Amino acid sequence: MKFKQILISGFLLWLFSVIGTALVAFTQQQTVERIAANEKAVLLKNLNTLLPAEKLDNDIAQDTIELQPSPLLGSKNTALAYRARKNGEPVAVVFNAIAADGYNGAIHLLIGVYDDATLAGVRVVKHNETPGLGDGIETRKSDWILGFNNKSLKNPEPEKWKVKRDGGDFDQMTGATITPRAIVKAVKNTLLYFEQNRERLYQ
Ligand SMILES: Cc1cc2nc3c(=O)[nH]c(=O)nc-3n(C[C@H](O)[C@H](O)[C@H](O)COP(=O)(O)O)c2cc1C
Repeated sequence: MKFKQILISGFLLWLFSVIGTALVAFTQQQTVERIAANEKAVLLKNLNTLLPAEKLDNDIAQDTIELQPSPLLGSKNTALAYRARKNGEPVAVVFNAIAADGYNGAIHLLIGVYDDATLAGVRVVKHNETPGLGDGIETRKSDWILGFNNKSLKNPEPEKWKVKRDGGDFDQMTGATITPRAIVKAVKNTLLYFEQNRERLYQ
């Protein structure tokens, strides 16, 4: 009798652990898929706001190139870049770049560069900057980041790619200079990367 009870308890214990493990695995898989889907949706939205639809006719999210780690892109791992084309001709490259020296660490950016080396625009995709101080880099908080539109290494000239506090052309934010300084540097470096690697980016 006692032996039977032990057997039943053992079986129930095993059953619950199997069900528990299956539930955790299932939830984790669902979460991973949902996060990936959300990230893809955010990426597409950002790509669409960076490049007007009439400028390209390819599926930019699928037309990618894997770039080797580069200090100019702030990347320690390979990073994807997205290519926009029209009638097969190069239109723009959108880089994943990282401004490593934000106030609270890395700021992840999408930086669109037209084939004539002018900026289509810049968007922040991930950051930990302080709400109310550094988070004015988000388009839903302020227009600051739109100030990069159409800029290039000729406009302003390279020495002016700094915040005004450092003698450059770019506004800082009230009480927050570190965040804009990091982004201005990252955007300038991405333009340098484009200049140095332009030929092979569309291959
Ligand atoms: C709690 C705290 C959080 C801060 N967060 C940021 C931030 O996210 N970005 C930033 O540029 N400065 C931030 N600052 C301010 C910086 O320490 C620094 O004072 C400022 O960037 C310099 O800008 P200013 O010379 O215009 O004052 C923060 C300061 C404190 C005390």
